[in-house]
Amino acid sequence: MDITNLIRPEILTMEAYTPIVPFEVLSEQLGRKPEEIIKLDANENPYGPSARALQALAELQYAHIYPDPESNRLREALAAYTGVPKANLLAGLGADELIDLIQRLFLRPGDMIIDLPPTFGMYSFDAALNGAGVVAVPRRVDFSIDIEAVERAVSELAAGRRAPLLFATSPNNPDGSVIDDATLGRLLALPLVVVLDEAYIEFHGVAHSRMKWVLDHENLIVLRTFSKLAGLAGLRVGYGAFPTALMPHFWKIKQPYNVPVSASAAAIAALSDVEGLHANVARLTAERDRMSEALSELGWLTPYPSRSNFVLCRVQGRDARELRETLARKYGILIRYFNKPGLRDCVRISVGKPEQTEALVKAMREIADC
Ligand SMILES: Cc1ncc(COP(=O)(O)O)c(C=O)c1O
Repeated sequence: MDITNLIRPEILTMEAYTPIVPFEVLSEQLGRKPEEIIKLDANENPYGPSARALQALAELQYAHIYPDPESNRLREALAAYTGVPKANLLAGLGADELIDLIQRLFLRPGDMIIDLPPTFGMYSFDAALNGAGVVAVPRRVDFSIDIEAVERAVSELAAGRRAPLLFATSPNNPDGSVIDDATLGRLLALPLVVVLDEAYIEFHGVAHSRMKWVLDHENLIVLRTFSKLAGLAGLRVGYGAFPTALMPHFWKIKQPYNVPVSASAAAIAALSDVEGLHANVARLTAERDRMSEALSELGWLTPYPSRSNFVLCRVQGRDARELRETLARKYGILIRYFNKPGLRDCVRISVGKPEQTEALVKAMREIADC
């Protein structure tokens, strides 16, 4: 018997997600110590966890006891931070877990999700995993959402095809553009659930968040994460705000012990110093603008305007993939290259510390002179 014949057919044919190479492996591949690598390829926060989060981890008790399935203390802290009632908040093992959970709640095999590429890859990855298809409605050249095309795509769905979910990201990864109220309003008027991913919202400004809109819109879910804001990507903790009617169903289907005690403790401690978190955000947004200017002065990179902690750049007169490779091999500087429609000749560079920007720009100058 060929045991693989027992695997779900959609998994047999699905493409694997290409994750970022782990630091230790990279260090070996590049022949450099981890501290010598400048990692600007995954939109992580270069300032790392706050001192309070590190202290909470050092003093962690009860790692031998399963975590609170309801993440009560974390959700209380999140309610205070977001202004959304605790009853409408759910924590997850990163926003990634919640994206999968949302799809599990709504998708039947053969259903579709509406995806707005270029955007974060996990929406379509999870759709494949959940036996669903993807209706891709490409963004316009300036990366804004083609709302007329979205409305058309929804109304033209083939007979019998359901599309219960649409994923929209603001600021969008990989370009950093944001969704305006009018466009979001039109998305919310569609007969589906809009999942608004605000993983990077703090870099745009929390005042722009639509998280509280879930209280007035029964078809809106808003997701966020501690990975970018709080430098906790390695601990995996995210959260979402959900309409009241959906909450009991999410409680039913989520893994009971999804958020580790360590991740919860670090996240709660991080939220006890929001000012400190936002001070790092201010450093990063100032550095983003400085980096964009320095890169555009090179003359062969065109940065797109970004409201996030990364900058997408179009590369002219040079091969973008080769640029990524030379930066990694010769300088130990990692940036992201995408071989995808809408992103040809583009690289995405996460914002680092000022000295990392200096090293990047110096390397770019040297590469240009070669
Ligand atoms: C738009 C977007 N959403 C979600 C995530 C994942 O967040 P988490 O680390 O909380 O799983 C990312 C990570 O890069 C992202 O870019």
